[in-house]
Amino acid sequence: MTTSRRRVAILISGRGSNMAVLTEAAQAKDYPAEIALVVSNRPDAAGLALAARNGIATAIVDHKLFASREAFDAMLQKTLEQAQIEIVCLAGFMRMLTTPFVEKWRGRMINIHPSLLPEFKGLDTHARALAAGVKVHGCTVHFVVPELDSGPIILQEKVPVLAGDTEETLATRVLAAEHRIYPAALRMLTEGKIERI
Ligand code: GRF
Repeated sequence: MTTSRRRVAILISGRGSNMAVLTEAAQAKDYPAEIALVVSNRPDAAGLALAARNGIATAIVDHKLFASREAFDAMLQKTLEQAQIEIVCLAGFMRMLTTPFVEKWRGRMINIHPSLLPEFKGLDTHARALAAGVKVHGCTVHFVVPELDSGPIILQEKVPVLAGDTEETLATRVLAAEHRIYPAALRMLTEGKIERI
């Protein structure tokens, strides 16, 4: 059987647990995507070593070496093009991308966010959910658009907030849900099951 699996790059800045579950999912024979590259903007990201240990090609585009966001994004674009990347997954990637870069990848770049968007866009979502007293929290995979955490939603999973939860216990519960929905959302996108934006 000939397969034409979509070539995916995962962009990370840190731990890389979502990257790891995407990589693991893509090892299944029937998964429609292959993780062709992991890129980090931070040379010390723990996820880089993890990807390399799993035999995935890695690249570092260190934002500190670029004078502007435009210059950084240009190098990122070049890196993705050289690896013939078709789809980009942001997974704990902590850099704002410029509008032209985002537009170039419109419909082909997705992100995982640790809240039920449109609630709690931005950082510190678990602390803010606890402070707001919500009983249901969760995570979202969405298309990336220029406005932060605002693109069309692909998948969400709800997670209960339990009595006595701390930021850490809640984050752990949400992360387990992230690890379920990200591989599922990437599969949906690569199988053409979602209307592209
Ligand atoms: C996750 O909670 C993700 O939702 C957020 O950043 C965190 C990254 O974790 N965008 P990891 O690096 O995938 O472990």
